Amino acid sequence: MIGYKTLAVPGPTNMPYEVQRAMEVPLEDHRAPDFPNFTLPLFADLKTIFRTETGRVFVFPGSGTGGWEASISNLLSAGDKVLTSSFGQFSTLWVTMCRDFGLDVQNFDVTWGEGVPLDDYHSALSNDKAHAIKAVLVCHNETATGVTSDVRAVRQILDDLGHPALLFVDGVSSVGSLDFRMEEWGVDVAVSGSQKGFMMPTGLCIVGVSHKALQACSTSSFPKGYFSFQDMMKMNDQGYFPYTPAATLLRGLRASIDMLHSEGLANVASRHNRLASGVRAAVDAWGLKNCAVAPKWHSDTVTAIIVPENFDANDVISAAYHNYGVSLGGGLGKVAGKVFRIGHLGWLNETMVLRALGGVEMAMRDAGIPFQAGSGVGAAVEYYTDSRQPLSLAAE
Ligand SMILES: Cc1ncc(COP(=O)(O)O)c(C=O)c1O
Repeated sequence: MIGYKTLAVPGPTNMPYEVQRAMEVPLEDHRAPDFPNFTLPLFADLKTIFRTETGRVFVFPGSGTGGWEASISNLLSAGDKVLTSSFGQFSTLWVTMCRDFGLDVQNFDVTWGEGVPLDDYHSALSNDKAHAIKAVLVCHNETATGVTSDVRAVRQILDDLGHPALLFVDGVSSVGSLDFRMEEWGVDVAVSGSQKGFMMPTGLCIVGVSHKALQACSTSSFPKGYFSFQDMMKMNDQGYFPYTPAATLLRGLRASIDMLHSEGLANVASRHNRLASGVRAAVDAWGLKNCAVAPKWHSDTVTAIIVPENFDANDVISAAYHNYGVSLGGGLGKVAGKVFRIGHLGWLNETMVLRALGGVEMAMRDAGIPFQAGSGVGAAVEYYTDSRQPLSLAAE
């Protein structure tokens, strides 16, 4: 194929030149005396992306799934009760892992396309007078359905009821792209990975842990090995790791943090909202439905689009890739064949989104889906141009 391929999956995302260049360095000695000069400021600055002052952020070689495991194995014990909800592939897999660990899972099965059921969480927690529930799990952004849940509201429920359960959040497709406030929202564990909002290759599992959660490490009875927070803490305090860190990726992470800060986290979130709004305008113009059933659930990092009955979303995905070099996300689990997903997160601008939307239109025509060619691209063009902030005039 001649020309660029288009990466429009919700992770891995497009990697900026700055991040790529930062990793084009000779391999280095992770036990060198001056390695902490690099790592200690990195650990400190990473906290500003999670927005925690009193917590810590650990970086393990791994991926987001490792973060789920780290959160369970460090902070809970076999038989502990956890409150969970499943409404997409990733929230479901986290619940499965809880069961595999032998936790006592109280799960709410929610319609895919909705998010964390606040009323159900409220009644489960208010009925739990003995405080048997040790952790409440929230998948902040369900990447399989393009649904964002209200983490702050879950914290509010816990606070209103005076319930001491830890708040575990999957922020794999939200940290570094959506508004995320670990300290303000009282998040005790925030799990992320390098390949989405951090605009990096896969390979780092990044986990924010609150001060309160760190106290729980000492009472957790699960065996700990690779993901031990306590081992990590001891070595991180000196600027080192308990094993060989992915030092090259850490160099990329440094550049990623710098880029997020130079744009400003508020601007990062509003850019994602703007890009996502253009995609949603396109979906409406095509006459198709967003898998997220109401605007309050709409994700600004990924949109899952339902194809009309009697069509197979995999035909769109296949045509997009084979005919036009556009990678779209597939439908996972219950929505396999029913949705295709456009990832719109990370290092992205309007024209990159339009490229993906154009690819989707061609692929939908190839798959025989009826719609007006150009309607979605046109709607996004109109949205982006109508909502554009005027360029500030150079100081004269
Ligand atoms: C919301 C969410 N949680 C967890 C994961 C699993 O992360 P990983 O694939 O990095 O292990 C993903 C992956 O896409 C995800 O989107």
